[in-house]
Amino acid sequence: TKKIAIAIDGPAAAGKSTVAKIVAKKLSYVYIDTGAMYRALTLKALNESVDVNDEQALVSLLDSTTIKLVQSEEGQRVLLDEEDVTVSIRTNDVTNNVSYVAQHSEVRIEMVRRQQQLAQERGVVMDGRDIGTKVIPDAEVKIFLIATVEERAKRRHSENLSKGFPSDLELLKKEIEKRDEIDSKREASPLVKAVDAVEIDTTSLSIEQVAEAILEQAYKII
Ligand code: C5P
Repeated sequence: TKKIAIAIDGPAAAGKSTVAKIVAKKLSYVYIDTGAMYRALTLKALNESVDVNDEQALVSLLDSTTIKLVQSEEGQRVLLDEEDVTVSIRTNDVTNNVSYVAQHSEVRIEMVRRQQQLAQERGVVMDGRDIGTKVIPDAEVKIFLIATVEERAKRRHSENLSKGFPSDLELLKKEIEKRDEIDSKREASPLVKAVDAVEIDTTSLSIEQVAEAILEQAYKII
């Protein structure tokens, strides 16, 4: 069968990575989490006290940084300069700063360059904010996942509680809204639905239903 690229974009906490992983597994494709790359750079900037608003400083930091996404038994691991940061890129501090780092056009140019290299070989499911518009504009399948902010906050809240993490539903809602606002309003490739993307509202769908809907699009082609 033909190998294709599946681009999944959408706002924060819409379930992109969860369904992307399922779809990738089902097709034996590689899953590439581009948000993890922006998160890794953000973690390094915070650790090294580099200002998240200083574009030039972030660009030179990125130039001397390796970020690897490796598939393992337990799923995808993220290596920042060979150190495993899979867990530490998910802290609130990183989450609440990453959209500032991702605003800068020169940071994005380098990230997109790296992501395009990763997507060169087809047989990929890539998720992010600009995959269908910028990173893989010729992706054979483009999906735009949305859900109400209430639903997205609720899902993140239950996920936190199930992991035994402290969680505040109202605060989560505010943080998600803030991140969406920065991601959608930035000048450099803002979060928008590609004209040829299929929009799926996941508000009242299960994870399995969303994965099925995406696979249905893929099976039309492969
Ligand atoms: O997908 P995730 O929530 O991990 O992404 C974290 C942040 O990284 C997003 O809120 C956005 O600011 C940035 N991002 C981006 N472009 C991508 C992926 C993520 O700007 N392709």
